[in-house]
Amino acid sequence: MSDQQHVYPVSDAIAQRAWADRETYQAMYQHSLDDPESFWKEQAKRLEWITPPTRIKNTSFSRDNVDIRWFEDGELNVAANCLDRHLETRGDQTAIIWEGDDPNEAKHVTYRELYERTNQLANALKELGIGKGDTVTLYMPMIPEAAIAMLACARIGAVHSVVFGGFSPDAVAQRVIGADSRLVITADESVRGGKHVPLKDNVDAALTRKGTEVCQHVMVVKRTGGDIDWQQGRDLWFHEAVDKQSTECPAEAMNAEDPLFILYTSGSTGAPKGLKHTTGGYLTYAAMTHQYVFDYQEGDIYWCTADVGWVTGHSYIVYGPLANGATTLMFEGVPSYPTHGRLGEVVDKHKVNILYTAPTAVRALMAHGDKVMETSSRESLRLLGSVGEPINPEAWEWFHRVIGNGRCPLVDTWWQTETGGIMIAPLPGATDLKPGSATKPFFGIKPALVDNEGQELEGATEGNLVILDSWPGQARSIWGDHERFVQTYFSTYDGMYFTGDGCRRDEDGYYWITGRVDDVLNVSGHRMGTAEIESSLVAHTAVAEAAVVGFPHDIKGQGIYIYVTLNDGIEPSDELKKELSLWVRKDIGPIASPDVIQWAPGLPKTRSGKIMRRILRKIAANECDGLGDTSTLADPSVVDELIEHRANK
Ligand code: PRX
Repeated sequence: MSDQQHVYPVSDAIAQRAWADRETYQAMYQHSLDDPESFWKEQAKRLEWITPPTRIKNTSFSRDNVDIRWFEDGELNVAANCLDRHLETRGDQTAIIWEGDDPNEAKHVTYRELYERTNQLANALKELGIGKGDTVTLYMPMIPEAAIAMLACARIGAVHSVVFGGFSPDAVAQRVIGADSRLVITADESVRGGKHVPLKDNVDAALTRKGTEVCQHVMVVKRTGGDIDWQQGRDLWFHEAVDKQSTECPAEAMNAEDPLFILYTSGSTGAPKGLKHTTGGYLTYAAMTHQYVFDYQEGDIYWCTADVGWVTGHSYIVYGPLANGATTLMFEGVPSYPTHGRLGEVVDKHKVNILYTAPTAVRALMAHGDKVMETSSRESLRLLGSVGEPINPEAWEWFHRVIGNGRCPLVDTWWQTETGGIMIAPLPGATDLKPGSATKPFFGIKPALVDNEGQELEGATEGNLVILDSWPGQARSIWGDHERFVQTYFSTYDGMYFTGDGCRRDEDGYYWITGRVDDVLNVSGHRMGTAEIESSLVAHTAVAEAAVVGFPHDIKGQGIYIYVTLNDGIEPSDELKKELSLWVRKDIGPIASPDVIQWAPGLPKTRSGKIMRRILRKIAANECDGLGDTSTLADPSVVDELIEHRANK
């Protein structure tokens, strides 16, 4: 299909009301590249600074000296920017609409209530001895307390590390140790799709692991009242610690480059890495992108369906919208519960204007046909957004036509945990849309495509996506391991930030992300390192070797395909497959559940012993005719054997 076949031009009506029309985008984009200092100095004014910055940009991508600083002499507090400064003008406005998993449960939290509750928790944290620079791990359901906990940390200068509530005890333990957290905030249970997840039990299990002794306290929100164990002296109820506190708590003056949060994400090698995001640049960028990409206007009801455990939840449920004084909807449940009509029903119930979701959710609904939207009108919608993985044109069209009634611009936003905010996306009043393309760079973003040697490619072409210069929202380091940060992102191509994504640019300069070019999978918009799953598998006594690859999956985007070589004397069986599947789920979390396991008496390796994943990917995708050159394999016959016994027929 040609890129030109489906173009949705910007409508005049939208261009007129939008923050940026074509000319404004062009002029601002040019300004942001020509003179980043003055551009970002001006943009920083969208925040309230205790000490306004005079030094704007001080950044180096050079492999020998990766050093990224924005607004480095400025001081501010993120919670004060998200709460205090709105009190006078919008204290009684709803900050968070909470929609429970159960359609009969919802509540509105005003800016004043959010401010007071945040201060109370901040005081409770101080009472526990938590202060500036300490880290706090959050393992929370999608409830307002999750945002409150993030903001309370920010208020006193503590650094939060949110762990997605679907991760396992081991994953929690790994992150508590990695961040050296003295406190975990959690809930008794979370509720999703009618099922309870034992968060507190998981934390208990996590804290039995060696190295977690650093954690002295567990604060527990009572969400369901379900049965939990209690460790006297260590555990405390959120409401008991918080209710008694004063609703005032001074906001700590933070340097713009002080850390705000750590967020773990998977890479192509090793254990997940904790990206470090800082204060002034991050908030400026989150707020600005939220305003322009979603064309956020005063009074809009805005809903991002992500979980706060991912970066999308950080930047576009909590920090960006609250910095802009928006009303942000937080949804505890899943779009398919109790019925597939839920997404549309929530839109109608709360009169949502802006809906930001993931292709996997769209595809899951699309699989049930147009009728899933018959229980709602979605008349309130004005804009749609997509994030997390490439959106195939069919899903784009369905999202636009069925969910958006064919009249809402759809912004496909490309970005990453590392980038802090949206990097490539249309602006609704400025960019004609092409289904499947993330379109054009945001202000200040200089993307380029390079070949494997790092040579920049011009014009309409395809290559590895790099970013040539820094932007304020960028992660500054990997927590406790700057060398790994340099190695992972700046050593492949010196002087450039390497995204790990492949990308095509068309003749109009539109960017089309093609997916990861490294060993990272994207399963239902969740990032998974193949190495992580492999190391989990080889820790099982039956497994000698394992290789994990992705394969195309209709709903998830990518599925997880595992080749397992068993130890001598171990018999393959369906029971063992089930056991290995459970093993991975337990070790990492349900999101890492294998879709396919194939027994592999041998794996295709080069003579130097390197597994040729390219071949394994082809077999998993059932593209066995185009295996390419196998002559460098140590034993080409293993390939025939694997093809013959393909598990995904
Ligand atoms: O491969 C890209 C894909 O998701 C990766 C980043 O994952 P994560 O850090 O978990 O952040 C997800 C939410 C920002 C990217 O390297 N990705 C994300 N958005 C898109 C995308 N791929 C194509 N199109 C997108 N809009």
